[in-house]
Amino acid sequence: MKIIDVPNDKDFIRQVAEVLLDGFTTSGINPWENLESALTEVRESLSENRISRVAIDKNKNVLGWIGAFHDYALVWELHPLVVRSDLQNQGIGTALIRDLEQQIKSRGGLTIKLGTDDENNRTSIGGIELYPNVLEKTSNIENLKKHPFEFYQKLGFEITGVIPDADGFGKPDIIMCKRV
Ligand SMILES: CC(C)(COP(=O)(O)OP(=O)(O)OC[C@H]1O[C@@H](n2cnc3c(N)ncnc32)[C@H](O)[C@@H]1OP(=O)(O)O)[C@@H](O)C(=O)NCCC(=O)NCCS
Repeated sequence: MKIIDVPNDKDFIRQVAEVLLDGFTTSGINPWENLESALTEVRESLSENRISRVAIDKNKNVLGWIGAFHDYALVWELHPLVVRSDLQNQGIGTALIRDLEQQIKSRGGLTIKLGTDDENNRTSIGGIELYPNVLEKTSNIENLKKHPFEFYQKLGFEITGVIPDADGFGKPDIIMCKRV
C-alpha cells in the first residue's frame, strides 16, 4: 500500500467517491446520499489549500481516503476519513492519519481538529438530553456501538468539546483535537 495525493483524474475521482459511499455503510449513517454528492465532495477536496490523500494498492485500487482543510491559520480540519468497508480494522485508517499528520506538519500546522457525529446512538451521549452539565456527560462518554471517537483516541486525539443536537435532538457532534 502507498499513500498519494488524489490525482485530478475522472476515473480515479469516481473510485474515491465509490469508496466514500461504501466505507460509511458500516457506520449505519449515510452522509452522502448518492454518487453525485460523493463526487462533489471528492472534487471539492482538490481545491487549493486543501489536503486530499488516498491509500492505494499496487494495482491503484483505492483502499481509503483522507482530506483536510484550513480552519484557523494553524489548525486543519480533518474531513472526511473513510476506509473501504471490507478493509476496515487492518491499519489503513491509522496509516492515513499518520500521513495526514506529516502533511500538516510540513505545512507548519499545529493542530488537527475533527468533528465526529453521533447520529445513531452509538455512544452514551447520543439520544439523550445533554443539558445541563454537557461537559460532564461528555467526559464520561462510553462507546456503545463502535463509534469512531475511540479510533481517534487510540491515535492521540482528545475530546475537546461537543456540539449538542448538531444533527437534530440527541445527535451531537463530538469535537476532537490533536497537536501534530
Ligand atoms: C473509522 C475508520 C476510518 C478507522 O479506520 P480502520 O482502518 O478501520 O482502523 P484501524 O485498523 O487503523 O484501527 C486502529 C485502531 O482503532 C480501532 N478502531 C477502528 N475503528 C474503530 C471503531 N469504529 N470503534 C472503536 N475502535 C475502532 C481498531 O480496533 C484499532 O485498535 P487496536 O490498535 O487496539 O487494534 C474506518 O473504520 C471507517 O472508514 N469507518 C467508516 C467511516 C467512518 O466512520 N469514518 C470516520 C468518520 S468521523
